[in-house]
Amino acid sequence: MEADSDIKTTPRGFHCVLCNANLPNPSSMEQHVKGRKHQTLRTVRATRKTQEQHSVFVSGINPVVSQTDIAEYFQQFGAVSDIVMDKDKGVYAIVQFAETDSLQATLSRVEHQMKGLKLRVKPRETKEFKLIPKKNSSQNLQQALDRLKPQLCQLVSVNAQMQYVVERLQLGENEKKARGLLVQLLQEVFVEFFPDSQIQPFGSSVNTFGIHSCDLDLFLDLDNTKVFQAHAKSTTEQAGEGTSDDGRSEDSILSDIDLSTASPTEVLDLVAAILKRCVPNVHKVNVVGSARLPVVKFHHRELNLQGDITINNRLAVRNTRFLQLCSGMEDRLRPLAYTIRYWAKQKQLAGNPSGAGPLLNNYALTLLIIFFLQNCEPPVLPTVERLKDMACEEEECVIAGWNCTFPSQPIAVPPSRNTQDLSTLLFAFFTFYAKFDFAGSVISVRKGRALPITDFLSQNTEEEKSTKTQPHGPKLGPLNLLDPFDLSHNVAGNLNERSQRSFQKECQEADKYCRSLQYQRKSTKGKSWGLVRLFTPHGEVPQSRPEQPTISIPFKLASLPEGLRNQLHEAGDGFRLLWFQKVCSAVEGVFQRVLGCRLAPSAGAVFGEESSAADDDAGEMETTSASLNSSINDSCDSVECQNEASPAVGAKRQLSSGSDASESPQGKKPRLAKRGKPESPHWICVQKHMVWAGRRKVRRELVKDTDSRPEGSCMELESKVTAHIIEKEPELKEPLEFKVQPHMVGGTESTKAVLKLEPISDKTGVFQDLFHFLEAFLPKMVETLLEKEGGASQV
Ligand code: UTP
Repeated sequence: MEADSDIKTTPRGFHCVLCNANLPNPSSMEQHVKGRKHQTLRTVRATRKTQEQHSVFVSGINPVVSQTDIAEYFQQFGAVSDIVMDKDKGVYAIVQFAETDSLQATLSRVEHQMKGLKLRVKPRETKEFKLIPKKNSSQNLQQALDRLKPQLCQLVSVNAQMQYVVERLQLGENEKKARGLLVQLLQEVFVEFFPDSQIQPFGSSVNTFGIHSCDLDLFLDLDNTKVFQAHAKSTTEQAGEGTSDDGRSEDSILSDIDLSTASPTEVLDLVAAILKRCVPNVHKVNVVGSARLPVVKFHHRELNLQGDITINNRLAVRNTRFLQLCSGMEDRLRPLAYTIRYWAKQKQLAGNPSGAGPLLNNYALTLLIIFFLQNCEPPVLPTVERLKDMACEEEECVIAGWNCTFPSQPIAVPPSRNTQDLSTLLFAFFTFYAKFDFAGSVISVRKGRALPITDFLSQNTEEEKSTKTQPHGPKLGPLNLLDPFDLSHNVAGNLNERSQRSFQKECQEADKYCRSLQYQRKSTKGKSWGLVRLFTPHGEVPQSRPEQPTISIPFKLASLPEGLRNQLHEAGDGFRLLWFQKVCSAVEGVFQRVLGCRLAPSAGAVFGEESSAADDDAGEMETTSASLNSSINDSCDSVECQNEASPAVGAKRQLSSGSDASESPQGKKPRLAKRGKPESPHWICVQKHMVWAGRRKVRRELVKDTDSRPEGSCMELESKVTAHIIEKEPELKEPLEFKVQPHMVGGTESTKAVLKLEPISDKTGVFQDLFHFLEAFLPKMVETLLEKEGGASQV
């Protein structure tokens, strides 16, 4: 291979100076040189070099000089292929010629004069082409924290740190003024084209939670324009002319479109055209018609501001008023919200970089904070329903059929009796969501409590069957947070399971950290403390691994069949227990029927049976299953008790720090123990074959071989794979015996079944391999069984 001058030999192999990549050996180096990145960068470098060799740098121009002026002047030296100008400042231009001869001719001229200006013309400076590595998001987050850190560390308390975060991040007065002026300008422009229209800001610019460089959300209210247009139309029809009776001429844009029938995208196309043509400094104008609410995006150059204009968003203006009211009622809300928003950003939990994404949006995060404050003891904020009752008649407000009534002034709301300080509330926020049952609840800021998800199950089932015209329930997902006014909207409906899990996990980590002295006390040695450690970017702190092997099977509403959803709905608050029983039956099915394990009752501990582990009788299995389920009923009582103790399903009422409510249901002593029974219900499994080894290969073979290919479900295929392995592979020298102990987590944590696994006899040392296999296989298989059997499994 031809030597590449970009490749240098190093003591550890090779280094590509062009791509800034270390390459450990000759084969990786060869691969790299042939690869797309290296080849693209070489092409880019060659193009740049040609450009440099063909162009001159021109200064001495002014803002009045246009690109055409420059082209006309320099064409006397040869064909001009490109001109780059710093249009805003009018200071320089780069003129590129098609031929190098033209360049020589230009440079040999001693003096250049154009339009009375003396131009300075120089050859281009040759710069070494270098790849500037992009900072990854984690580096950016770390740098942002590094800027905050010194001041935060010097403050005396977490309370002071939280106040400081607000001061540092909030929108300054000048920023607010600049935004106000832009809104005014837009109003003046739009009213020309859409008579009587109104442009109203909403979101972070005005909701009291804005940070430097947050975007500018705008609602273009065209309701009055529609009235105007309808009126103008009827007048025109009568008069046969294009002038309305108030003297305003019907603008061409309005005559192009009938607002009463036009689609949002059609209207937004017009809005985009106006922005492009009539608003100075606006560029990058884009209509996003596919969003839940279609929007025109734009950028304002001078203010370096991203703006969004929507036309069907009256509710957003109202919920912005609601957030303003909450800040007005409660001084502690802003420091809490700024701190939690910053924490969530550092942990990459909130703020979707390009709008849509699977993370929490800032509005949803703020509602989670408000909901937590409604659930403090005593509450810091009232429920939206209570606020409605505090409003007077003039404040009544209904938008799109949703009641959006609340007092207009904070003074109308009695102050909270809660006196907890900021640092305690922050800690309590993490504790609250660390234990919150996201899977089993729907968060209602309106009612100020979590509603059981079963209340929404039948709604959604009906919705699936219904026509589009019927009102529909919220889109349920891993995190269900109802908008306070539009009760059909889950504001966290975009979250996927992973982002919901990360949110809860980070809350658990933060909860743990807040218990430490490092959170509570300023370091006397100048070390990071308080918020600084809390703000450490995601991934910087090593995660601890669970000590005992456990497998979690989360409650996943979306994947449950309709029949089972109906059963759960009918079970009301007892839905967790019913679901857990179904899961236990499915787990038993996976071990017994899919993986060919022998299930043996433990020696009389739970089942009180005399049978031994070696018993392999189907009748015994049934007894085992029934006994286990009755024991499950017993152990789940504790979960139900927790619900009774807590007025809000899924919400822990007691928020004081260090409460023993931090203990998870599994952490509590099972009730069985109180009755003198030594252990919680469990299975003892015996496996004689390594049914996990080489499964993929066997599965592939079986699927290819049409004769032996099992018909129907995945479960049948997996059972066949197991049977194949048992038939072909030798037995383990000693059978593996292990214990599987199911626990139900719910009520104060996301509903899930947790299986603790423990080896009893593992003389051949294969337990870990089995566990790793089960970690992925078991939850998937349980889901398949639940789906397949439609909840009709043998409970
Ligand atoms: P954002 O989530 O962008 O919040 O929603 P924000 O406070 O403006 O934060 P950043 O700084 O721009 O990210 C903007 C507004 O859109 C409305 C709310 O009025 C919110 O304040 N909104 C957002 C809804 O009405 N529903 C939603 O589901 C999301």
